[in-house]
Amino acid sequence: MKKGKVLGIDIGGSGVKGGIVDLAKGELVSERIRVPTPKSRDPNMLIDAIAQIVDAFEWKGKIGCGFPGVVRSQVIETAANLTGKKIIGTNLAEEIGRRTNCDAWIINDADAAGIAEMQYGAGKDIKGLVLMLTVGTGIGTALFQDGVLVPNLEFGHLKMRDKLTSKNVDAEKIYSDAIRKANDLTWRAWTERFNKYLRYVQALCWPDLIILGGGIASKKEKFFKYIDVDCDIITAKLENRAGIIGAAYMASEKLK
Ligand code: BGC
Repeated sequence: MKKGKVLGIDIGGSGVKGGIVDLAKGELVSERIRVPTPKSRDPNMLIDAIAQIVDAFEWKGKIGCGFPGVVRSQVIETAANLTGKKIIGTNLAEEIGRRTNCDAWIINDADAAGIAEMQYGAGKDIKGLVLMLTVGTGIGTALFQDGVLVPNLEFGHLKMRDKLTSKNVDAEKIYSDAIRKANDLTWRAWTERFNKYLRYVQALCWPDLIILGGGIASKKEKFFKYIDVDCDIITAKLENRAGIIGAAYMASEKLK
């Protein structure tokens, strides 16, 4: 069992959230602090927002940080839902380390949420192929075989046909929670659309189980009854804390 505490941070399209995670419990042991995600194109603004959270906790230990894009060797490769695309090519772990004097580890946000669910939540002790989906500003996906992560799966960017415009666009531009809100869709209407996406990803990778997380996970009673896919499917247990908890877990794994 893991021990100790790590500061977990989850960078989202609208907010940067952070909290102290007790790794033995797999839970937050502090309040969850949120600062708005900077709209500026300058990556330093995002690093400032992260430093604000580190300072608020007077944190001196390890930091795990979930990022909403592809992360390879700690370098940001994509950032579909952030205005600050200049961040691409940045070694974010190094930059956070320089600013805060803390060791940091960066991981894709959906991978982080998936790890938290597999270690402590809805996927605990589950073998076989598990697909985690996070539905929020974008759609994040993470794949696990017997609990082992295959990183940076980007099924939110599968091209699908948008009936409203008859154009092929990224799936997250049709099915995300942000699109549900922007189009004022009822939960039933949104879920009936979302089922098409679910059936598509199910047929592409044949998971034994799908875990639905992100902003929608806490609204289960509103949509889950309309879900229709030929595969076991459950909602995430750790709700909007999963990204923070998983990022903290990964930092403790990787920063020895
Ligand atoms: C990004 C993914 C991310 C997801 C959820 C997508 O636009 O490409 O890397 O996991 O949004 O934030």
